[in-house]
Amino acid sequence: MTRAVPNIVPRHVAITMDGNGRWAAARGLARSAGHKAGLDPVRMCIQECTRREVTALTLFAFSSENWRRPVEEVASLMGLFVEALDREIAELHANRVRVRFIGDRRTLSVRLQARIAAAEERTGGNDGLRLQIAMSYGGRWDILQAAQKLAKECASGALRPEAIDEQRFAASLQLAGLPDAELLIRTGGEQRISNFLLWNAAYAELYFSDRLWPDFDVAELEAAFAFFGSRQRRFGRTSEQVEPGASGGRTP
Ligand code: FPP
Repeated sequence: MTRAVPNIVPRHVAITMDGNGRWAAARGLARSAGHKAGLDPVRMCIQECTRREVTALTLFAFSSENWRRPVEEVASLMGLFVEALDREIAELHANRVRVRFIGDRRTLSVRLQARIAAAEERTGGNDGLRLQIAMSYGGRWDILQAAQKLAKECASGALRPEAIDEQRFAASLQLAGLPDAELLIRTGGEQRISNFLLWNAAYAELYFSDRLWPDFDVAELEAAFAFFGSRQRRFGRTSEQVEPGASGGRTP
């Protein structure tokens, strides 16, 4: 039976932007050209999510594991992040986007850390799209840093171990205060989580696109939203328990 596709928008969209290197190789270009071309769909997704009043958009720009790439590629990516921030931050601010970085920022260059702090400070009071950029981020690292924070509070006597419930734990994660990721998109044809939001994507609907990230366009984003709208989200319940036609239900 075909399910009607209601025009329901996920509150939190997370994207693994994969395929830049292959996109560049197919054109005989350096991998860095693929990363640069990847900025266009980043802008498009920010605009579209703003237009559709999505609450939060989280982009996986650089994983804890990406440090294993050749030094030249890492250097060119870090340079691109600094340039992109310098160029885009005024417009993001004008569009009321609130930017936040998630990841182990101590591993980033002092120059990039300064740009990150400035971007967060400048846009911190904005009431529009919540944009998270994951840099030097890993889902396991995120869970570990939360566990360490809580362990320290327990050791100091400020927190009882029994008081650590899901809510308390989530409040120590990098995405504290944001709704869970409801739609996780990965481009580039791979169907893996690759250590992205391990906790926050527990109930996310997964949309895998064969498009290489620089080719990800509005039509493909719309296809991902339509896919999300067509899902019956059960959160462990049976479909009979879930209200008939309650596709796109909210994360509890
Ligand atoms: C993965 O493709 C992509 C990356 C590691 C970098 C993604 C970064 C951008 C698109 C720039 C975004 C910038 C900001 C500030 C948000 P890949 O290189 O693994 O591609 P491949 O699988 O084809 O080799």
